[in-house]
Amino acid sequence: MRVDVVTIFPEYLAPLGLSLAGRARDAGLLDVHVHDLRSWTHDRHRTVDDTPYGGGAGMVMKPEPWGEALDAVLPDGATLVVPSPSGEPLRQALARELAGREHLVLACGRYEGIDQRVVEDAATRAEVREVSVGDYVLNGGEAAALVIVEAVARLLPGFMGNPDSLLEESHEDGLLEYPVYTRPATWRGREVPPVLLSGDHGAIAAWRHEQAVRRTAERRPDLAHPARAVTSGDLEGHL
Ligand code: ADE
Repeated sequence: MRVDVVTIFPEYLAPLGLSLAGRARDAGLLDVHVHDLRSWTHDRHRTVDDTPYGGGAGMVMKPEPWGEALDAVLPDGATLVVPSPSGEPLRQALARELAGREHLVLACGRYEGIDQRVVEDAATRAEVREVSVGDYVLNGGEAAALVIVEAVARLLPGFMGNPDSLLEESHEDGLLEYPVYTRPATWRGREVPPVLLSGDHGAIAAWRHEQAVRRTAERRPDLAHPARAVTSGDLEGHL
């Protein structure tokens, strides 16, 4: 998979050369290129932002440098990923979908976002996904881009030594993962749950499933009952 990242802070993406994404790169599964948006500016101050039409706080990223940048790095048929707190949530299913693409281009916006026409223009020739990594606001898309690339890279075929280990993780089956333990069997007076030492694989699987269901219900009732996560009542007074 090829990944291009456009940002005004190229150094922020340095961790892509390390750890997991770096391992995928060394294995020849991932080819990452980071670009400085300001190289597509033409004024002395290398301006990338301006005040918003209609007023309001903050600055908006100008369409011209983004247009030129995407003309250069987004080929027809590639997938443009725009990290944004107003995007679709990054879930395991979306990470898996993106892992099936040949070429991702990530456009990291700063300030209040990128002029919306940039996304509309790109959508005439490429798939565009605005993606949120969570219901909180970051200062820009760079940290979100790191999250998205890591979630996708580890799903690339051939990346995981044992692909079966992916199947038991949190979120693969809609449940959080059960608690895990390793040696010693007693530590600071705390015992490992005895069923895990029993050698009874059926009993172990049943215990793990029960723990996963209990954890999910306690910590993430929205996963346990997705239909209840947002109801029309929640939106009353906002529409
Ligand atoms: N940019 C700012 N906040 C973000 C978020 N929560 N997800 C993705 N991109 C963002």
